[in-house]
Amino acid sequence: MNASLPFADWMKAVQADTEAALDRFLPAATQEPAKLHDAMRYTTLGGGKRVRPLLAHASGELFGAPADAVARAACAVEMIHVYSLVHDDMPCMDDDALRRGKPTVHVAYDEATALLVGDALQARAFDVLAGATDVPPARLVTMLRLLAEAAGSAGMCGGQAIDLDSVGVALTLDQLERMHQLKTGAMLRVSVLLGALAGSDLGPAQLEALGAYAKAIGLAFQVVDDVLDATADSATLGKTAGKDAAANKPTYVSILGLEPSKALAEQLRRQAHEALAPFGEQALRLRELADLIVQRKA
Ligand code: IPE
Ligand code: IPE
Ligand code: MG
Ligand code: MG
Ligand code: MG
Repeated sequence: MNASLPFADWMKAVQADTEAALDRFLPAATQEPAKLHDAMRYTTLGGGKRVRPLLAHASGELFGAPADAVARAACAVEMIHVYSLVHDDMPCMDDDALRRGKPTVHVAYDEATALLVGDALQARAFDVLAGATDVPPARLVTMLRLLAEAAGSAGMCGGQAIDLDSVGVALTLDQLERMHQLKTGAMLRVSVLLGALAGSDLGPAQLEALGAYAKAIGLAFQVVDDVLDATADSATLGKTAGKDAAANKPTYVSILGLEPSKALAEQLRRQAHEALAPFGEQALRLRELADLIVQRKA
């Protein structure tokens, strides 16, 4: 994508690119079993901010990734993310009826379909990434393993498990940060890493800089999600606002308070910028995405 585009135009172009790629990589709604495929498309297409694909594209551009490889990395992380949302909304987890401005999958279809949509999206994510033939095989295996780690019990699933076990529990700030890093940070981090690895092997210094950036934006993202849950309305969010307090979830807002949470997000935004210093001007998109993650209204 053109480096001289204003950020808003670059973002729109990547979002459109991602939409088209997801459409291509998802099974056709007419293909049997049609209900499952229709539900996979219903929940994946036409919604969401596509923050993880944006991160993959931004770091992909920084490391000269070929278009197909970066599109596959972007779709793989988005598919895992969408699967995590479908399951997160199920009655056995957060029991939510609204997602991306539409009824959740278990409401629009049924619970068993929601379960299978998540399972099938996760499997498809690995399949899509494994098809990145522009990437040397050894590096591609590293990418697949990083994605597995970020999605599994050492990442998103682990964080979700802690989240569900923490209802009504007074977590310490360290425990809260750990939960956020796992449930949200891990998938944002791997989005940055896969984009970069789609283009090049990474040396220790590059890994460290990207890792520090990803850690800061990963935590900032969930801090802002907690703030928005407490301050925004459902129409703006496209999901039910006020769920965390109603469900007695430990959040940055409940533990730190609203203003300190906003201040923390701002501090993390600055940390993210500092981490990118070694990349200079070239890291413009990643800097702009750190700003978007902290300043977003939905
Ligand atoms: C919501 O993620 C769930 C969290 C990890 C906090 P997003 O805010 O990225 O949701 P979409 O993809 O835009 O719907
Ligand atoms: C969910 O966190 C994070 C994942 C889906 C992994 P939340 O439960 O806070 O997400 P929302 O607020 O429902 O989007
Ligand atoms: Mg949840
Ligand atoms: Mg939720
Ligand atoms: Mg939330």
